[in-house]
Amino acid sequence: MQHITIKHSDDVIIGPENADDASAVKIGNEIILQTVDIITPVVEEPFIFGQIASANSLSDIYAMGGKPISVLNIACFPTDCLDLSILEEIFQGGLSKIYESGANLVGGHTITDKEIKYGLSVVGIASNKLYHNALCKEQLDIIVTKPLGGGILSTALKAEMADESHKKEMIRWMTRLNKYASEIAQNVGIVTMTDITGFGLLGHLLEVLKASKVSAIIYKNNINFMDGFEKYISYGLIPAGAYRNKEFVANHITGDNEIILMLSVPETSGGLMIFCEKTKTKELLEKIIEGGDTKASVIGETIKDESCTIKII
Ligand code: CO
Ligand code: CO
Repeated sequence: MQHITIKHSDDVIIGPENADDASAVKIGNEIILQTVDIITPVVEEPFIFGQIASANSLSDIYAMGGKPISVLNIACFPTDCLDLSILEEIFQGGLSKIYESGANLVGGHTITDKEIKYGLSVVGIASNKLYHNALCKEQLDIIVTKPLGGGILSTALKAEMADESHKKEMIRWMTRLNKYASEIAQNVGIVTMTDITGFGLLGHLLEVLKASKVSAIIYKNNINFMDGFEKYISYGLIPAGAYRNKEFVANHITGDNEIILMLSVPETSGGLMIFCEKTKTKELLEKIIEGGDTKASVIGETIKDESCTIKII
């Protein structure tokens, strides 16, 4: 959206300027959040794909500290060559996650297309504080709630090279809602958060740093990856998106090439990246792990430095 000037009224609290997870608009006394996301299949099973796409779309509301209220299905489907029962299974999977979120499915739209795509447009409501990208500060710990590497595992899966146990673990994380970690974060008290999706850990971290004019240090040994990640990446099963992301962040990062690529891997329905005061870290991490995000860890900290750079050590 760099080359388009967008005018908006004073009711718009969060627009597209800082690449936030969802927009925020004031309506009366309420703040309404709105987001949309569609993806291509990451697994062959239609029901599970529906669950992943749905969890992925809902995540942007959780990353803003909101509660999803109403949802529209958006789908692309090759109606002339695939049976409609496949689309129904995708919707059923999506619906299971919409129910888990507590939101209502109120409609949708499907268009005929060569390739399957599915996702949701979600309207949510902000509880009290909006956790947007420009709120970050120096001297905060950075917690990531899910293991990284979804883009590598799904590439291995497409190449029919993924072990069954690795596939299972990938599905477990991709279908998991960020609802639980988001609620815990808000209860304990944090500074801000975002979620990790298509731009990978470094891309989404950089969005926050740029919006807030701070820098960060990443401790590479603290980062959890999905099982099988290192094996498949060593086979060269790396999606094109990882290289695009790496190029996008390159000028802002110091660290060795290999680790920069590993942290540029795109995620689908990835975890939350939470920025919290150091006094809260222990309690927050324990509660997030207890809540079921068992691979959550402190992956780094923010530092005072307006150059918006990331140093990986
Ligand atoms: Co997001
Ligand atoms: Co998004």
